[in-house]
Amino acid sequence: MASPRLECIDIGSDYCPCYLAELNECIVCSQLQGKKFCDCNWKGVCVFQEFVWAKRKAKAKRDTMVSNIIDKQKINENLFILTLSVPNKMARDLNEPGSYVFLRNEFSPSFFDTPMSIMYADEINGFVKVAIQINGPKTSLIDLSEKRICIRGPYWNGLFGHKYIKGLKNSKCLVVLRGIAQAPGVIVINKLYRNNNKITVIIDKGKTGQFFISQYLDQLNLNIITTDILSAEGQEILKNAIADNDLKLIYSGGSDEQHLNIFNYMDLYNNEAYLAASNNNTICCGEGICGSCEVQIDGQKVRSCKVQLDVEKAIERRILYG
Ligand code: FES
Repeated sequence: MASPRLECIDIGSDYCPCYLAELNECIVCSQLQGKKFCDCNWKGVCVFQEFVWAKRKAKAKRDTMVSNIIDKQKINENLFILTLSVPNKMARDLNEPGSYVFLRNEFSPSFFDTPMSIMYADEINGFVKVAIQINGPKTSLIDLSEKRICIRGPYWNGLFGHKYIKGLKNSKCLVVLRGIAQAPGVIVINKLYRNNNKITVIIDKGKTGQFFISQYLDQLNLNIITTDILSAEGQEILKNAIADNDLKLIYSGGSDEQHLNIFNYMDLYNNEAYLAASNNNTICCGEGICGSCEVQIDGQKVRSCKVQLDVEKAIERRILYG
């Protein structure tokens, strides 16, 4: 059986072709997989041609740079928000659903790099905001950063279902956010809002104990419901919201269990809406090199830091393999 064609999140960007092309492992281009023929379905600039023009090298690399910490807002003992100065172009690139960067303490070695979702990006003034929950040595060391921090990016595959979020206009949608996954939800909501969608947002504070994105949603005309999704009442709210057959899109930002919970309700009450969801796989390099984010879909190994997975298949895979 032929392998299904995969969508690479970096294709056509400043970072395509990448290291994988140099290694004959390009996700999209058959010629850069060592084959002798062209067999891609990409409609943009030819990746192979770009590779040849770039003298058979990766076009641009995401270098680590040092960013100034403009502000640090402590939300509670385990949660804080950093405002980081970045070049305007980088802020613009990061103002996209699913965007993230790698952060580490200025004095830590590179293996302390930690992927962090972008909560807010200001491309005019050149800064981004990230919300960080302390839950291990990497995030503890980031918390100790005072003036500067190492940052690498931009990366974009922090969620699956980009095309649904970007393409939805003048429709009704539901956004469900729990815990620290509230942070990347801000850019998702802003994108949907700019496209004139009517949005219901269900917020569960989760382990963070805070509705910490409220200040970023204040100016928007949204229907916001705060609840504990895991409670009987929360489940009822979730079920009723999903059962609205006018919904065109549901975005789930939270754990895989939450994705599955929503997926099951969709199965029962709403077959029409599209599902987009946060990418919860373990991301280590973000470049499709290390394999830590690899999942098996339809017998094919897929690096989920680069590839836009079909959300339903990703959830089914979790059911089968845990
Ligand atoms: S995070 Fe390294 S291959 Fe995906």
